[in-house]
Amino acid sequence: MTVAYITGASRGLGKALAELLLQEDDIRVVGLSRQQTIEHHNYRHIVLDLSDIEVVERFRFPVEEYDKYILINNAGVIEPIGHVGHDFSTNILANFNVNLVSPSLLMNMFMRQFSTRSKEMQIINVSSGAGKYPIDGWSSYNASKAGIDMFSLVLNEELKKDNVEHIKVFSIAPGVVDTDMQGVIRSSDETKFSNIDKFKDLYNDGQLSCPESVAKLFKKVIDKPNDFPDVILDVRNF
Ligand SMILES: NC(=O)c1ccc[n+]([C@@H]2O[C@H](COP(=O)([O-])OP(=O)(O)OC[C@H]3O[C@@H](n4cnc5c(N)ncnc54)[C@H](OP(=O)(O)O)[C@@H]3O)[C@@H](O)[C@H]2O)c1
Repeated sequence: MTVAYITGASRGLGKALAELLLQEDDIRVVGLSRQQTIEHHNYRHIVLDLSDIEVVERFRFPVEEYDKYILINNAGVIEPIGHVGHDFSTNILANFNVNLVSPSLLMNMFMRQFSTRSKEMQIINVSSGAGKYPIDGWSSYNASKAGIDMFSLVLNEELKKDNVEHIKVFSIAPGVVDTDMQGVIRSSDETKFSNIDKFKDLYNDGQLSCPESVAKLFKKVIDKPNDFPDVILDVRNF
């Protein structure tokens, strides 16, 4: 029996991943986010606000025995959108907390609780192409995704140094996916983000991937992690 903990399983890519995994009888899915939208006999929801660091620090994974443990850090926020110094918003903290700090805390706790059990483990962080190059207006988002890539690389380095082969870590960019997050991007304005027309064009030209097909690409890594020797991946190259 496998357990998959998925943050942000209530919408978008996380929901598609959860529903894909739930098609298999031997996988239990535990969703972690503020809202529950999935009802399934093999699904359990834990309400968790990843912007609330004190709560996330106290979080412990349920103590249960499985043959394989998967953590998918999928939840993410794009906001704040806007040039640095142009806004008094406190959303920078929320962005880093949801996209980088909480996933790092969860990875740390996941390793602490399960790594000594000698069971197969996978950590899959949902990253972004935006973590690899600068986009004006997206400083927090780009930096948080670059951070999750590097955290994953360091963890992988540590696993190699300790000769640990039963634990795999990946940081995977999903491409441009038709979710609420893309709606938030399109509804921002060009004074805050000069690339907005590119994202509107991608949408109008039907270039966005659907979450269900992207979930299937992530599942390739879950099913055959040894086929993917790199930590940093982009599903557009699969
Ligand atoms: N869509 C794209 O084109 C795209 C491109 C590159 C990377 N990504 C990455 O893909 C991942 C999924 O994004 P998406 O497009 O599916 O986004 P989405 O449709 O906006 O869904 C975001 C998910 O994150 C959860 N979330 C947001 N704030 C949270 C909080 N404070 N605490 C707990 N959960 C929270 C939401 O759950 P609740 O509302 O229930 O809390 C929701 O399930 C993100 O990491 C994103 O950066 C997306």
